[in-house]
Amino acid sequence: MSIIDDFKLDGKVAIVTGAGRGIGQAVAVAYAEGGAKVLVNDLDANVAEETLALVRKAGSDGIIVAGNVMNKSDVENTVRAALDKLGGLDIMANIAGITRDGMLHKMPEETWDFIIDVNLKGTFFCCQAAMAAMRDLAKADGKVKKSRKIINTSSVAGIYGNKGQANYSAAKAGIIGMTKTVAIEGLMSNVQCNCVAPGWIDTRLTQKKDEGANIGIPDQDRQQTLMYMNFMGVRMGAPIDIARVVYFLSTSGSDYLTGMTINVSGGLKT
Ligand SMILES: NC(=O)c1ccc[n+]([C@@H]2O[C@H](COP(=O)([O-])OP(=O)(O)OC[C@H]3O[C@@H](n4cnc5c(N)ncnc54)[C@H](O)[C@@H]3O)[C@@H](O)[C@H]2O)c1
Repeated sequence: MSIIDDFKLDGKVAIVTGAGRGIGQAVAVAYAEGGAKVLVNDLDANVAEETLALVRKAGSDGIIVAGNVMNKSDVENTVRAALDKLGGLDIMANIAGITRDGMLHKMPEETWDFIIDVNLKGTFFCCQAAMAAMRDLAKADGKVKKSRKIINTSSVAGIYGNKGQANYSAAKAGIIGMTKTVAIEGLMSNVQCNCVAPGWIDTRLTQKKDEGANIGIPDQDRQQTLMYMNFMGVRMGAPIDIARVVYFLSTSGSDYLTGMTINVSGGLKT
């Protein structure tokens, strides 16, 4: 055994939520390249098909389970499908998330609730269902328990705040606290739970917001951020920049790391 073996995922089963686009898609492909079978979850079954095709192209296989992380029963079905159809659950990567920005003094209550429900409650349902399954699997392992992983997705907005994101920054800060508790509760079952906090990553969440659209950044704010990043010498991240860190947190190479949030922003926030 060399240290390189600690970073392989051969024979493992991974669930990736929000795997149809952006960071989730990059994580799913990285897992496939590492040798894991991947359950591709997304709200949108069409984009999930594209990800599964990329997983197969990377030399692995998987299944699609479309579903909404806001719905407890969808999440439970997803975990059950990994156990029944892929034969286990070693890694739960909770990537699904969304923004719906607005200044605090104008933010409708529904917008607050929606963002807390998708990002925070959705991550809670995913951690809960994964932990229940992983505890059972750990009991079945007997004395020598395999390590299993839960990875959550926060944001630098959850650590430092961000204009127009009272809802999103609250949800993402909550995920950091929840990660610590999940980590503590996972100790006896050899389940490590860690979190990534991405900075500015080139996905649809950071695209220019079109007139009337819900997702994206108003052009002026976007240009200001890009100018600041350019001034500071920080490039905009790509989904693979986050996927590499999520991948590390999914391998045995990170077995002695739990409850941590890793800020992955290329230096935008340190
Ligand atoms: N892009 C960034 O700069 C950035 C920065 C910090 C954190 N993040 C976080 O990274 C994660 C991934 O974001 P992204 O930038 O790749 O966005 P994205 O919109 O490109 O991809 C997110 C995917 O999640 C899916 N999704 C959304 N709501 C869902 C739900 N309720 N149930 C299941 N699937 C759902 C979407 O259909 C989409 O395919 C999110 O949690 C986001 O908050 C992104």
